[in-house]
This record gives sequence, structure tokens and C-alpha cells, in this order.
Amino acid sequence: MLGKYKYAIEIGGSFTRIYVRDNGYALCEPTLVSAEPTPQGYQIVGLGEEAKKMMGKTSDSVEVFSPISNGQIKNYEYTKALMNYFLEKLDFKKKRDSALVLVNCGLADKDKETLLSLMYEIGFKEVVLIPAVFCSMIGIGKNVSSTKANMIVNIGGANTDIAVINMNSIIKGATIGLGGRAVDVAISNQIAYNHGLVIGIGASEKLKNEVGSLYPNDTLNMEVTGVDIESKVPRSYIISSSDLLTVLEPFFDEIIRSIDVTITSLSPEITTDIINNGVQFVGGMSKISGLENYLKRNFRYPFKIVEDGENVTILGAGKLLDDQDLLEKIYENT
Ligand SMILES: Nc1ncnc2c1ncn2[C@@H]1O[C@H](COP(=O)(O)OP(=O)(O)OP(=O)(O)O)[C@@H](O)[C@H]1O
Ligand SMILES: [Mg+2]
Repeated sequence: MLGKYKYAIEIGGSFTRIYVRDNGYALCEPTLVSAEPTPQGYQIVGLGEEAKKMMGKTSDSVEVFSPISNGQIKNYEYTKALMNYFLEKLDFKKKRDSALVLVNCGLADKDKETLLSLMYEIGFKEVVLIPAVFCSMIGIGKNVSSTKANMIVNIGGANTDIAVINMNSIIKGATIGLGGRAVDVAISNQIAYNHGLVIGIGASEKLKNEVGSLYPNDTLNMEVTGVDIESKVPRSYIISSSDLLTVLEPFFDEIIRSIDVTITSLSPEITTDIINNGVQFVGGMSKISGLENYLKRNFRYPFKIVEDGENVTILGAGKLLDDQDLLEKIYENT
């Protein structure tokens, strides 16, 4: 029998989000740490929003990175520092007694254990790990207990989670290591290759979010400044949507292929449910311009792109904090 949980924590590849029972959605900050080498080893110089602001803005020696990658804790101490910082930052300094921590479908047992020990080490007494895909479904108002299956695709910063759920359990779930970050890197590589210009990862993320488009003929554009590969002199260049299409299309083609593979492995009854309910797209990358148009051209199944798709998962976790009965049922099946 589970007790009542106070916090819901989603440590995403791009953002960490926290929901507190009776207080609501309390925090959303980049899952980023900036650190600098010193004779005593690396020293943290910024966390969360502060670390993000330092991207490409400080001396070469300051590194900004996510201590978590694909749901796995890569740097335990930095993750601990980051979580402590976020929790202390909340206005209502409630006791760290109990938390639901959201995880990817495919997280390995040893990574789950690492995550649990970290949570206990920062003071939580009771922690349960819940697959984030349940919370996404609950967040968009789907009934995860129904016999009718629903499918969710969460395209985030580091990963894409694909899951089919019914009767409080995951019929099929997969996490693939494709998210917005991979697109940012590909954009910056492409600009270096095509235009001889090195731009920062922050600049390529901005390009992706503001100029990136899956419409075949979009004409948005933006000037970016970088360093010329040969002369090492700063130089600007205007990047247009069509420059980014060659990165975005293969990315979404790959995601669609993975969804197709998942659906093909399901029974005809479950497939019929999915066709009736439509595939639900959530996550920050599902906000890319032209996704609806692209899916209509390339995806064989009915679908819906959920509004505010990057926040539905933590909002769903918030609902789960209040629904003891449902939490219990989901927990039994994980
Ligand atoms: N308008 C936009 N167009 C395209 N991408 C966007 C847009 N807004 C945000 N993103 C991207 O969405 C990603 C973040 O999504 P989200 O917040 O769902 O990730 P996350 O939950 O932190 O990561 P993950 O689920 O992989 O652990 C980032 O790569 C960000 O650049
Ligand atoms: Mg996410």
C-alpha cells in the first residue's frame, strides 16, 4: 500500500519539472550544470537557468552540460547538486518526505537504482519511479485504466518515448535516443559543413525552434553569427527554413519508422483502438512548425498534436498525486 506522495519530479533531458501536491506546478528549469576546472577539480559555477545563460557566453574553460543523458545519471554529484538547488528554490520549503519520480519506458534496473539512491541521499524517505508515459496520458485526459488502448509519442530533448497503454499497464513501450538535442547538433554540423561557419549549440537550438519548419516551402529566416572555420573571424549568415528541412525531415522520418514498427507488432484489436483514438504527440519537439502538415503527408494513422505538449506529463503527474487509487494500480503493474 503506497502512502500519499507530495512531489512529482520529472528530470528531462532538457528541463526538470516539479509539481507539488496542494501547490501545483512549481518549477521548470533547464537540466543543466556549468562547471569550471580548478586545481581541486571541476567546480560548479551555475545551475539550471543560470547554467543555461552561460552557454557560449563565458570563457572556453566553463563547460555547460546536462548531468543526465537518456534518463541515465552520468554525473551523480552534479545531479545531486542540481536537484538540491531546484528543491531549495521552491517557495514552499516542504519536507522532502515522498516523491514520484518519472522515468523513461526503457530505463535499465541499475539506472533506476542509481536514481532511487540519489533521491534518498537528498533526503526523500519514500520514492516511487513511475513511467512518464502514464503521466503524459493522464495529463491529456486519457483513461489509462480503460481496456481501450491509447498510444503516446513524447518527443523531448534527449529521447522519444513511444508507448501503448491500457488497463494501467504498458502493452508496448520503447525509448529511442532521438530528441531536440540531436537536431541541434545536426543543425550546427550542417551549417559548419555547408557554410563554413561554427555556431554554438544554443544558437542552433534557437534556429530550430524559430526557423525550423516541416512545411516544404517555408520561407522564415534568421541571421546567425558564428566563427568562420578557415579565417577564425566572426561572421554572420542568414539561415532559412529550407536549410533546416534536410535535418528535420530525416529526424521525423526516423521517429515515424519507430512508431510504425511498434504499431506493426500489436494485435489487430489494439491497432484498431489506436486508429480509433489517434496517436497522441507530446513533448517540446512536437511544437516544431509544420508537424501537422508533415504527419498528414507521411504518417498512416490518425493523430493529434497535443497543445502545451511539453507540460502535460508533469501536469498528469500532478493529477496522479491526488489519485491514490490510480497510482496504486499503475504501481502494481510496473
Ligand atoms: N517551438 C519549438 N520547436 C521545436 N522544438 C522545440 C520548440 N520548443 C521547444 N523545443 C525543443 O523541445 C525540446 C525539449 O522538450 P521537452 O521539454 O519535452 O524535453 P525534456 O522532457 O526535457 O527531455 P526528455 O523527455 O528527452 O528527457 C528541446 O530540444 C527544445 O529545443
Ligand atoms: Mg520529457
